[in-house]
Amino acid sequence: MDDPIIQMNSVTTTYEGAAHPVIHDIDLAIGKGEFVIVGGPNGAGKTTLLETIAGLLPIISGSVTVCGLDVMKSGPEMRKKLGYVIQNFDFDPYTPFTVEEVLLIGRYGLLGFFRRPGTEDFAAVDRSLEQMGITDLRKKHIGKLSGGQQQKVLIAHNLTKNPDVLLLDEPFSNLDLATREHVCDILCDVADAGITVVIVSHAFDALPKRDVRVVVMKGGSVVLNKIVPSEQVQETVRQSSEDSNA
Ligand SMILES: Nc1ncnc2c1ncn2[C@@H]1O[C@H](COP(=O)(O)OP(=O)(O)OP(=O)(O)O)[C@@H](O)[C@H]1O
Ligand SMILES: [Mg+2]
Repeated sequence: MDDPIIQMNSVTTTYEGAAHPVIHDIDLAIGKGEFVIVGGPNGAGKTTLLETIAGLLPIISGSVTVCGLDVMKSGPEMRKKLGYVIQNFDFDPYTPFTVEEVLLIGRYGLLGFFRRPGTEDFAAVDRSLEQMGITDLRKKHIGKLSGGQQQKVLIAHNLTKNPDVLLLDEPFSNLDLATREHVCDILCDVADAGITVVIVSHAFDALPKRDVRVVVMKGGSVVLNKIVPSEQVQETVRQSSEDSNA
């Protein structure tokens, strides 16, 4: 692939204090504007894969670049280009930020020192609120929202950042089916606009209406990596899990 936006070469990573590496020898190249679904059973290493791409874990061997930046050497610069919606979040009900403030925080990496948010930043906030259908939540405190509403706010926060790569770990877990389909359509538009979208998901009932790169993990390795039409995602993941049990 010419100029991949995410490039992993023989990557092995671990958690501090863990006895063994959690993911091993991962080779992965993902292009601009690709829509990637990462599947595989609990404990397969899906979250670890995203944390590795985000430069949050020590890489024992191999290398990872995002937008051409080495995630270990240029982490802060790289993370300005990266949105990451984590798997398990838990807001204290008294978290003192409104939804609007949470979205504005997404702009700070772009603002630099001393500059206060301006018209362009508030316009980006308006756009993301509207895109996620949560404009009515703007002045609410995030800790007082439902899990699904918080999920949408976190996605909107990352869209406000205007990233080149958007990683989402189980973004559908708190959403009902209609909302899963809606959010999936939004993420599809995001990918069509050239942003690379990587989703870890068990909920294969909401699928983009386009080709998808399916990456299946098992026991810390990638056991399948191929591009399929969206209607084949479920079957491809199922079959790959069965094959790797054989
Ligand atoms: N902070 C940690 N410290 C040590 N080991 C960890 C840590 N987090 C995860 N692991 C281990 O790494 C392995 C992979 O975990 P990971 O969270 O990446 O799996 P996953 O595929 O995302 O699973 P799930 O579908 O349950 O979210 C597991 O064996 C887990 O026990
Ligand atoms: Mg996980």
